[in-house]
Parts: sequence; structure tokens; C-alpha cells
Amino acid sequence: MLRLVTVEDFSQPILPGDGASDYERYLRTDELLALQKPPEERVHRDELLFQTVHQSSELWLKHACAEVATATGSVGEGAYDRAERLLRRAQLAVHFITDQLEMLEQLSPWEYQTVRRVLGHGSGFDSPGMREVRRVSPPLWEALVEALGREGLADVVELYRRGDEFEALYQLAEALTGWDEQITVWRIRHFKTVARIIGDEVVGTQGTPVEVLGRLIHKNLYPELWSARNRLTALAKEED
Ligand code: HEM
Repeated sequence: MLRLVTVEDFSQPILPGDGASDYERYLRTDELLALQKPPEERVHRDELLFQTVHQSSELWLKHACAEVATATGSVGEGAYDRAERLLRRAQLAVHFITDQLEMLEQLSPWEYQTVRRVLGHGSGFDSPGMREVRRVSPPLWEALVEALGREGLADVVELYRRGDEFEALYQLAEALTGWDEQITVWRIRHFKTVARIIGDEVVGTQGTPVEVLGRLIHKNLYPELWSARNRLTALAKEED
């Protein structure tokens, strides 16, 4: 009997879209790679470096915030382990964008002034990614506080004192601390990058003095998680 065998041609795309291959169609690389100024529109060749770091930072922040939002839902469902896993990813994403600030320090402070002239009133305060961090982070804290209540714990100080009995919740509180800390570590790193490129006694593109960035370093997402440490140290002293 004669069998007809159809051989799939793996070189041909099967996904819908305009790209030449499924790789390009799925990742929409045509559009992605068109999001940076072409060489003829750049006032300085380092605009590519500048745009690459900023655009990829926005992508990682988008990813991080999606994980934080889902983690918040998981805490509400009592799935503390799952929430912790997602927060680890969120933290890692911000770790990546912290590391890539090093690439911006490859800019010459003088040559960057040329790039700066074409940024208009563009300011990091309008970063959609950081705005999203500010939006998704408080509900995560509220979910943790509710979880403490469900478990009969008065506050994080009690949770930390009885960490052994509430391992998953303890790990979750540590994951929130890690998320908060990583945002601050980014801010510290960013502050030094800014100081290195434009200085620390100047005003930004929207007129904000750079010292304001220095002050932001002391702002925590979850102040209670940090003050709990002070309380624990005080309690330990009382017990001595
Ligand atoms: C050459 C590199 C950079 C310089 C010179 C710079 C400069 C500044 C300055 C001067 C400010 C104060 C606000 C203003 O007036 O603009 C600021 C804020 C900010 N920048 Fe940058 N920046 C750089 C890279 C980045 C990158 C890669 C990101 C990534 C998302 C970023 C995100 C932000 C954010 C989110 C703020 C608001 C403050 C905060 O939330 O802590 N910046 N930046």
C-alpha cells in the first residue's frame, strides 16, 4: 500500500503576522527593533545605548509589576509559597535593571549633554514602569496584613518572633522586604549614575534638583517591615 507522507517544511512560518519567520512574528521583532531612532535621526550615536537601556528597563519593570500583582492575588488565596516565587522573579527583574545602569556609565558626561538636548521635558518621574511599581506595591502590603490577621498574628513583629511556626508567611514577609530593598538599591545605583553623568548639584529635565533623588533613597515601600527590625532589636534588649 502506498502511503502519502506530508513532510513539514520547518523553514516556513506558520504563525500569523508580517515577519519573515515565526521567531520574528511571535516576538514582533520588526516593531521592536523599529522603536529606536535610526542612525540618521540620532544627534549622537550613544542615543542607541541610552534608548536600549531605558526601553529594556521599562520592559523588565512591566514584567516585575505583573508578578507583584499576581503575587498579591496569591497572598489573598493563602498561596504564600507561590507569591514568594513570583516576588523572587520581580526582585530579579529589578536586579537586572540595576545592573544595566553600569552601561549608562559608559557615556561620556560631556557627550551626554548632546543627547540631553533632545530629551525635551522627558523625566524619569514619568516612567510608566516606576509608576506601576508605586501602584502595585501597596496592595501587596495590604494582602500581607490581611494574611497576618487570618493566621491570628497581631503584626510583623509577632510573625518574626514566631517565624518557625509560620515559615511560609515568614518567607513571604522576607520576599516583600527583598522587593522593597531592591527598589531602593536601584534608586541608590541610579543616583550614583546620575551624579556621574550630569552631576549631583544640578537640576533635571523637569527642573527637579538631583538632591531630591538622594532623599528618595530613604523612602521605603513598606516602612513597617523596616521598623519591625528596630522593634525586634529593642525587644531583644528588654529580654536581656
Ligand atoms: C544617563 C542616565 C540617566 C540620567 C542622567 C538620569 C537622570 C535623572 C534625573 C535628573 C532625575 C530627576 C528627575 C528629573 O528631573 O528628570 C531622574 C529620575 C528618575 N529616573 Fe533617571 N536618569 C538616567 C537613567 C535612568 C534609567 C535607565 C531609568 C530606568 C527606568 C531611569 C528612571 C528614573 C526614574 C524612575 C526616576 C524618578 C525617581 C525615582 O523613582 O526614584 N533613569 N533621572
